Amino acid sequence: MDFRNKVVAVTGGSEGIGRALVELLLQRGASVATCGRNHDKLYQLQAAFPGMPLHVLVADVSNEQDCNQFIATTISTFGGIDILINNAGLSMRALIVDAEVHAFKRLMDVNFWGMVHCTKAALPSIIERKGTVVGISSIVGNRGIPGRSAYSASKFAMQGWLEALRVEMFQHNVNVLWVSPGFIATNIRSVALNEQGQQIGETPMDESKLMSAEECAGYIINAIEKRKRTVVLTLTGKATVFISRFFPRLADKYIHQFFFKNGKLIK
Ligand SMILES: NC(=O)c1ccc[n+]([C@@H]2O[C@H](COP(=O)([O-])OP(=O)(O)OC[C@H]3O[C@@H](n4cnc5c(N)ncnc54)[C@H](OP(=O)(O)O)[C@@H]3O)[C@@H](O)[C@H]2O)c1
Repeated sequence: MDFRNKVVAVTGGSEGIGRALVELLLQRGASVATCGRNHDKLYQLQAAFPGMPLHVLVADVSNEQDCNQFIATTISTFGGIDILINNAGLSMRALIVDAEVHAFKRLMDVNFWGMVHCTKAALPSIIERKGTVVGISSIVGNRGIPGRSAYSASKFAMQGWLEALRVEMFQHNVNVLWVSPGFIATNIRSVALNEQGQQIGETPMDESKLMSAEECAGYIINAIEKRKRTVVLTLTGKATVFISRFFPRLADKYIHQFFFKNGKLIK
């Protein structure tokens, strides 16, 4: 795919996988738009790419008006949208029995409704350009994971919604795909929500052993180019999806062993 005449909107592009996507897409010659809640992080991103076709806007995807504005300003800046990557996302680490329900709702607002708002706003332009809608899901969108109940629910919801959209878009020649990464080295576990819906502030993983955001972004771009339906990333991620599909009870046991020690959630 020649990205030089493509406009790509990436939500949550100031950090992690989103930022790696923005960098890679700019290198490939695309015009790129991105958003996030923190002005300073977006400003630093823009300062790192002076003179490049990069549009940034402070927007919280859980707010419908912000999403409409992000998409509208992207279209007015670049003339339309070929590819929308719904990447902005939030995780959690809390047991259902301890967590407050508003924390679950926040996860749905960002991960599911954020995607719905942005996709609805961008769809007419994407249909006109026979483009692509992407959802950055997760392994937790294929298999419920303890401590991540609402994160899992939001990604299952994402995949169901996109699967329906995919078939609705056949007649328009629009490709719809969702990517399920395993553990990727980013800030997501540190900013994940605890029982009270506040940032945890630390990661339980050795982040240096995980796939890099840059490698993950490369797989995502490759899937867009090949107009794939879905992609599962990392060896552990693929194994988890496979065992959960064909041996679900065994998967329950392995997952319990991995995430719990002496009855406590340790990851
Ligand atoms: N890292 C992993 O292990 C992993 C695995 C599977 C799937 N994923 C998925 O990959 C996507 C990206 O995650 P990541 O690991 O790159 O996370 P990250 O490092 O925490 O980055 C998240 C990005 O999204 C933005 N963001 C967060 N909430 C937002 C909101 N309400 N509105 C607009 N922007 C928002 C953040 O900027 P601000 O804070 O400034 O808003 C930041 O730019 C997520 O959908 C996540 O679920 C990640």
